[in-house]
Amino acid sequence: MENRDSNSFQNGKSFSRRKFLSSSTIAGVGLSLNPFSMWANTKGNDTSQGKINKSQQQNINPDKRRLGNLEVSPLGLGALSVVGFYTGRVRDQYKVNKLYREAYDNGVTFFDTAEVYGPLISERQIGEAVEPFRKDVKIATKFGFDINPETGERGGLDSNPKTIRRAVEGMLKRLRTDYIDLLYQHRVDPNVPIEDVAGTVQDLMKEGKVLHWGLSEPGLNTIRRAHAVEPLTAIQNEYSPWTRNPESDVLPLCEELGIGFVPWCPLGYGFFADAINENTRFSEGDFRTILPRTTPENIPQNLQILYYIEEWGLRKNATPAQITLAWLLAQKPWIVPIPGTSNSVHLRENLRANEISFSKEELKEFDLGLSKIEIVGAQNAEPVMAAMGVEAPIKK
Ligand SMILES: NC(=O)c1ccc[n+]([C@@H]2O[C@H](COP(=O)([O-])OP(=O)(O)OC[C@H]3O[C@@H](n4cnc5c(N)ncnc54)[C@H](OP(=O)(O)O)[C@@H]3O)[C@@H](O)[C@H]2O)c1
Repeated sequence: MENRDSNSFQNGKSFSRRKFLSSSTIAGVGLSLNPFSMWANTKGNDTSQGKINKSQQQNINPDKRRLGNLEVSPLGLGALSVVGFYTGRVRDQYKVNKLYREAYDNGVTFFDTAEVYGPLISERQIGEAVEPFRKDVKIATKFGFDINPETGERGGLDSNPKTIRRAVEGMLKRLRTDYIDLLYQHRVDPNVPIEDVAGTVQDLMKEGKVLHWGLSEPGLNTIRRAHAVEPLTAIQNEYSPWTRNPESDVLPLCEELGIGFVPWCPLGYGFFADAINENTRFSEGDFRTILPRTTPENIPQNLQILYYIEEWGLRKNATPAQITLAWLLAQKPWIVPIPGTSNSVHLRENLRANEISFSKEELKEFDLGLSKIEIVGAQNAEPVMAAMGVEAPIKK
């Protein structure tokens, strides 16, 4: 990211990033750091399964949360930052190992990645990083694209049973494990009935390769159909102070069915961590260049949300990132945000969000203030939005 009000070091970083993005090496290994490319072709051993009841959804231990029957830390760690999704710089393995060790030592037991992050690179990074404490943590990863397991070259959406199986075999190797704690379908494949996807995952569960499963950004009816075949553990959708649509549809459904919820981009791509301001200009290839809410025209108005969160930070002696994460945690005891960071200081800051509470009255007051602020720009870029909320075709 190029921040025009920041120092030359920042600009130096973005220069090397551009070089990185344009290098032929990237094409050679099929890195998917181009923000459009991920969406463009949209064509410990907690083995218990089964539905859970409402009381199981309660948060019994403040240091643990439950997604369905899967127990995890209240905050997870997202992998996009270390794989260079925003900066274009894949973190060196030494630093990744250090960051994940630090996360683990500070209580994080839930690590989120995906086959398409890199592609293939992020799972390798995390496989090595968590190997020393693998049995004590939960790894979540995602399939859903046609990715060449050798080259990382990526095609479009593909949740055909054969492709899922191929993906899982590769994941197990890259993650240096013989089981995946939580396997998500990254996006609904409009050509494959969800019953076929669920059936394939069910077979993988019988083989002990997958322990729990979930969906990311599915249509509501697809959730019901998937859950009827094999109970879902978590839905992973975008949710943060400027993307609150889960509150009216997906969250009530998760509550009804006993499914956990994992907000992605809980910090609004860094926006609610005070990492973006009106002088910020993103470098070419940074995902945020295509986000309608972070265009130079829209940032100033949207900063009103950050300023509002900062006011709450003064009341609660917390940073805006901490307030944002604490606000998400306060929504439901079965919500587990997965902020992404490549930075130890940010990691430690974010984890302290679990120490901040919101009373019911404070939540109401917070929401009232938030609802008065106009948010400008669509939730996400068009190709990303097109793949959200899709209903899988009916099985014939
Ligand atoms: N299912 C899906 O379709 C989907 C889509 C997107 C993401 N995800 C998952 O969700 C995770 C979270 O989303 P995300 O990482 O894209 O976005 P995010 O968590 O909203 O924000 C990450 C950005 O915020 C910065 N940041 C984090 N903590 C900070 C702090 N305390 N102070 C200043 N800056 C801070 C990070 O930079 P630094 O590295 O400098 O800290 C990074 O640029 C991902 O990592 C990924 O695992 C899933």
